[in-house]
Amino acid sequence: MTAAIIETQGLRKVYKSFFGTRVEALRGVDIRVERGQAFGLLGPNGAGKTTLVKTLLGLVHPTEGEARLMGENAGTPSARRRIGYMPELRNYPQFLTASRCLDLFGRLHGIPASERKERIGRVLEDVDLGKWAEHKVGGFSKGMKQRLALAQALLNDPELLFLDEPAEGIDPLGRVVVRNILRRARERGTTLFMNSHLLTEVEMVCDEVAILHHGKIVESGVLAELTSRERQYRLTVASDFERVPAVLDGAISEIEEVKAAAGLAAWNLTVRDRDELNAAIDRLRRENILVDGIEPVRNSLEEVFLRAIGDQPGGDAPLGSEDSIAEPKPVSAGERS
Ligand SMILES: Nc1ncnc2c1ncn2[C@@H]1O[C@H](COP(=O)(O)OP(=O)(O)OP(=O)(O)O)[C@@H](O)[C@H]1O
Ligand SMILES: [Mg+2]
Repeated sequence: MTAAIIETQGLRKVYKSFFGTRVEALRGVDIRVERGQAFGLLGPNGAGKTTLVKTLLGLVHPTEGEARLMGENAGTPSARRRIGYMPELRNYPQFLTASRCLDLFGRLHGIPASERKERIGRVLEDVDLGKWAEHKVGGFSKGMKQRLALAQALLNDPELLFLDEPAEGIDPLGRVVVRNILRRARERGTTLFMNSHLLTEVEMVCDEVAILHHGKIVESGVLAELTSRERQYRLTVASDFERVPAVLDGAISEIEEVKAAAGLAAWNLTVRDRDELNAAIDRLRRENILVDGIEPVRNSLEEVFLRAIGDQPGGDAPLGSEDSIAEPKPVSAGERS
């Protein structure tokens, strides 16, 4: 097995206040992220997401346990040089231009002057802010500030990019733009670690997820596997609709009609195993019923999430309500959001 790009073992973090109150934000977290993955960390408000990210960045010291990035201890200067971080709260001095902001940041990162200019031009183009390079940040929309933060996180060509709520506060159009930037970063080989409570965003960007709840990982795995509901299949047929339930009677555990496109009919079939599914298909074919398709039924990530946290969203709603806005067609970056 190749070395993981992120690995934690038994990570615990207890915040102690001056008055003696204790908050156990992480209660033994083990995660492993492979190079090239897009990893999504989900969890309701207060679950410990930001604490975990900050621990990986070396900004928070764990009470117990280990965190390693690219084989090095989290927080060492050489590990930090190879990562990018887009923080949850993004404030830039209003009077600075976009390129000046990035220049300051590049200096902090120790990028030599000869390289800075070229890189700044490149990342601003990449986030669609090229023509706004010499404009003051004070006049930027939220979506533009968000993209500037992404440009900042990409400035040092990171191998590993941390994003704390990258879609927060931006409209669906802006999200498409951000998603495309992340896709390009991935194509260049950057590993993504994204932390969000906007489930549809995670669903669209990530291929592996972990769900954090009260400081513990309560569910993790490949997104496609977590969302594939075992033993439920969508059957679509193109003929003899009314006969289907009778033909399948007794062959499967459950059948439920669902909406289908014009000229077709569809059912969700619950079966015990693959053999039962195949026996059902055999019956349909024997009766000359024309099968149009059969596919596994997927849970939405929301269902997986709610099940993992025990259906108790708690006082703080974990599901962004603006999440349900229909996705528009991708367009070139709108400058106002
Ligand atoms: N500096 C701190 N001092 C004391 N307690 C803290 C501190 N930072 C976080 N906490 C507590 O630790 C717990 C986890 O907080 P954290 O910010 O990591 O959660 P989160 O999952 O990022 O939440 P959100 O979705 O609201 O951003 C919370 O109970 C929080 O109040
Ligand atoms: Mg947070």
